[in-house]
Amino acid sequence: MNRAQFSDFADRFRRDGYVHVPGLLSAAEIAFHGAAVDEAVAVRKRDDSRSLDEKTPYEQSFIQCQYIWEDFPKVRALTFHDKVCAVANALVGGERLRLWHDQALYKEPGGRPTEAHQDQPYWPIAEPDTCTAWIPLQPVDEAMGCMGYVPGSHEGEHRFVDIFSAKGEGEDLMARQGRPARFVPCQVGDVIFHQGYTVHLAHPNRSDRMRRVYTAIYFRDGCTRGGDRPHPSVDRDHVAEGAVIDGSATPVAWPLPGGEAPTPGPWPEIRGERAGRAARLGIIPGGKA
Ligand code: SIN
Ligand code: NI
Repeated sequence: MNRAQFSDFADRFRRDGYVHVPGLLSAAEIAFHGAAVDEAVAVRKRDDSRSLDEKTPYEQSFIQCQYIWEDFPKVRALTFHDKVCAVANALVGGERLRLWHDQALYKEPGGRPTEAHQDQPYWPIAEPDTCTAWIPLQPVDEAMGCMGYVPGSHEGEHRFVDIFSAKGEGEDLMARQGRPARFVPCQVGDVIFHQGYTVHLAHPNRSDRMRRVYTAIYFRDGCTRGGDRPHPSVDRDHVAEGAVIDGSATPVAWPLPGGEAPTPGPWPEIRGERAGRAARLGIIPGGKA
């Protein structure tokens, strides 16, 4: 990848709030990393035998497993992939890049749409220098639940849409956009990067196969904690409001110090009803201790 390509991606990302990069990874790489992510999801979810109908509306949008790079070391080669992180670094515009968190988002056959939302209202990061790499582990077409992005919406208003419990709020957000989303089917090896305030959503999975996707969220090194909304990525390292986000939960992802993927920090004892449930459901590490 040359300098002109990086700058083209960065221009499109600044203008539209997202950029689709076809063929960033090879099919062989996706097969290899996809197996590691599949294993992580299978282990985290091994005690969850509920059918789609028995799940909450949010869980019907996708099976979600976060921070899998931490308890599944084989996933790290994808989380800290040099090409993915180099593009992300060019998009957020700093010297160094940090990981916010990663996650698998597997949309089951028959799975609901992903409601329209912006990501960054969920994260206590003050600056807008963030991006999500959305990495499909097989082709994703309109029928399987490809992503849609509202071009330019990252420059508009910021709203917290509760996609966990308030079914239908995404429709209100879309109604306020004044322009439709562009849907982006992907081939194997494609990666879509979106900015933290870009309005995005996904179609339902009308196919008979699982829509397997891995995402990693990165931010420019030097970003600070904005607000006191609780979040493990900063709370685990006791990052105070206004302080630079720098801890073992959010390691430098690019360039990798010493060329080695980082090792994760400890998870605190899981406290509180919501966190305990998340751990038991395999959403965060620690449920099988
Ligand atoms: C999805 O994969 O359906 C949603 C991804 C996202 O919200 O970033
Ligand atoms: Ni999102």
